[in-house]
Amino acid sequence: MLAFMKIKYIFLLLTGLFALIYWSISSARKLNEKSVSTYSLEKNEDQPKNNSKLPYQDSSLSSEERVNNLLSRMTESEKIGQMALVERKYLGNINDIAQYKLGALLSGAGSLPEPNTPQGWTQMINSFQEQTQQTRLQIPLLYGVDAVHGHGNLAGATIFPHQIGLGATHDENLIKRIGEAVAKELRATGIYWNFAPSLDIATDNRWGRTYETFGSNPDLVSRLGRALIQGLQTTSTNEPIVMATAKHYLGAGATKWGTSTNQFYFLDQGQSTITEEKLRSTHLTPFKAAISEGVFSIMAGLHSWNGEKMAGHSYLLTEVLKNELGFKGFIVSDWHGVNQINPTNKYESVVKAINSGIDMVMIPDDYKEFFEVMYEALAKEDISQKRLNDAVSRILLAKFQIGLFEKSFTDQERFYEIDLLSHKELAREAVRKSVVLLKDTEHVLPLSKNNSHILVAGSSADNLGRQSGGWTIEWQGINGNQIPGTTILQAIKQTVDTTTVVEYSEEAKFPQITDLADIGIAVVGEKPYAEGEGDQEKLHLSTEDLLVIERLKQKSKKLIVLLICGRPIDIKNINHDIDVIITAWLPGTQGSGVTDVIFGDHPFTGILPIAWPIE
Ligand code: BGC
Repeated sequence: MLAFMKIKYIFLLLTGLFALIYWSISSARKLNEKSVSTYSLEKNEDQPKNNSKLPYQDSSLSSEERVNNLLSRMTESEKIGQMALVERKYLGNINDIAQYKLGALLSGAGSLPEPNTPQGWTQMINSFQEQTQQTRLQIPLLYGVDAVHGHGNLAGATIFPHQIGLGATHDENLIKRIGEAVAKELRATGIYWNFAPSLDIATDNRWGRTYETFGSNPDLVSRLGRALIQGLQTTSTNEPIVMATAKHYLGAGATKWGTSTNQFYFLDQGQSTITEEKLRSTHLTPFKAAISEGVFSIMAGLHSWNGEKMAGHSYLLTEVLKNELGFKGFIVSDWHGVNQINPTNKYESVVKAINSGIDMVMIPDDYKEFFEVMYEALAKEDISQKRLNDAVSRILLAKFQIGLFEKSFTDQERFYEIDLLSHKELAREAVRKSVVLLKDTEHVLPLSKNNSHILVAGSSADNLGRQSGGWTIEWQGINGNQIPGTTILQAIKQTVDTTTVVEYSEEAKFPQITDLADIGIAVVGEKPYAEGEGDQEKLHLSTEDLLVIERLKQKSKKLIVLLICGRPIDIKNINHDIDVIITAWLPGTQGSGVTDVIFGDHPFTGILPIAWPIE
C-alpha cells in the first residue's frame, strides 16, 4: 500500500513537472511568435505589481540603463515595431499601432488631420499615443514631420523663410532662435521629431531642393545647420526635446543631371560620382558639425554614390558615420528609400539596408510586409540579433534622452505658442536679413515712403502660397492667400504714407495710367514646387512674368524687380532694363520683412549663399 502511495505521488509529481515544462516552453514560444496576426498582446503581463515602476520606467536611472532594461524585456516583434516608421495615412487601422507595436509615425508633407488646427493635430497624435498604452511595454511613439520652414503643415503656424533665405542671413544667432520657435510650435501639438535641417550642399541650381539648403558653402551650411539643431533641440524642463534630423546623408546635392532613378526627375534621387575626397571635404563637413552638436537622428538620402543607394551604403552609414565619426543616434531611411535598393526584391532590400546601418525604416506604407520580411531575415540569420538590438537600442536611447517616456501626451496648454506675435516678429527679422540686393547701380533705394504713386504687379505680389514655396500645407505648396500672413503688396500698402497711391494689377494692366508712376515694383519668380518636381533645366522667368516686367517698365519712372524664388534665376537678358533687382528667396508669411529694407527702415545685410551671376 505504502509502495503504491509512493508511486502515486511520484506520478503526480512528474505530471506536474511535465505540465510546468510544457507551459514554460509554450509561453516562451508565444513571446517569440513570428506572426503578428496570431501574436496576442499579452497586455500588462510585464507590468509590476502595486504600481511600482519597472527599471526602464524610472527616470532617475541613466538612459543607457533604461535602454538595457527595456531591451531585455522585449520580444522580437516588439523590437521590429520600434524600427518601423509608418506614414499615418497608410495605417490600415488605428489598432495596428498596438497590434504591431509600432515605434514611430509620420505626417509627410500635406498629410493633415481633420481639422487642420492645433486641436486636430493634438487629438490625432494623442489618439496614436493611447494605442501604445494598450501594449505590454507602453513604449511611446515618435511622431515626425517636415517642419523645414516652420510647422508648415499646420494652417496658422508661422512660416519662416526657406533655408536658402536663412543662408543669406549668415546669422547663427537668428537661426538658433528660429529653431527654438519652431520647436515650441511643434511641441505645442505633441510633435517631438523634425525632419530638418537639410545639410545638403547645393552644387547645381537646377535641383528642385536647392531652396531646402543653406547654400553651396560647406562652412556656412555647417555653422547654420549647427545653430538650427541647437535651437530645435533646446531642452525644456517639462516637455520632451524636439529631435532634429540632419539630412540627406550624404552628397544629395552632388548628383548629375539625367541620372535620377525616379523616371520623372532629373537630379533628385540621382547618382553622384564625385571622389571620396570631395565627398568628405564638401558634403561630410556639415554632418560632422551636426554630430558634434548632438543631433539625434540622421536621414539617409534617396540618391546614390558610385552606383550604390544611400540606404544600402554600409561604408558611408556604418564605417564612416557610426564607426569613424562616432554617431550615437539613429539613422532613418527616407521615403521608400529601402525598397529602392532593389525595387524588385523587398527581402534583399531590407536585409541590405539594416545590415548597412539603417536603424529605422521610413516604410512608409506596407508595414505588414516589412514585418514579414524582418521575421524571415531574423529567422534565417540574414540579419543578426546583434544588429537588431543595436538598431533598437539607438532608437530607444533617443526616446529616453528626449524625455518621451515622461510625457508623450499633449494638452491644450501650449496652443498659445503657435503663431505667437514674437514668432511673427522673428520671421520678419529673418526675412529682412535674408533679402539680397542684386543690383541698384543708380541708388534708387531706399524708397521714400512719400512717393506719390507706386505700381505693383506680378504673380508673387499678392500670393502667400508663392511667398512660402513648397512644404507649406501641401508637399508642392499652395497658390493664393489660404493661410494667414502679410503679402508683399499688403506690406507695401502698410508701409507707405497715407497720401501715396498704390495701384495693383497682377498682370500689370494699368490702361488708366497716362503719367509715369514714380516707382514700379514687379514681384515675380517661381511657382511653388518640392523635391524632384522642381528639377528644371532652364531657370528663367515665365513669359507671363516677363510680360509684367515689360508692361511695368512702360508705366513707371524706375523699375524694381523683386524675385520670389528658391534659387538663382537667369536674369542676364533682362538685367539692362531694370533699375533695381532684389531677391527675397521664399520669405514665408511675413512680407513686411521685405518692405523693411526696401523702404530703408533697415539696411540690406543679406549676402548670397550661392553664386548668382547677373551680368
Ligand atoms: C523627403 C524627405 C522628407 C520625407 C518625409 C521625403 O520625400 O525626401 O526630405 O523628410 O519625405 O516627409
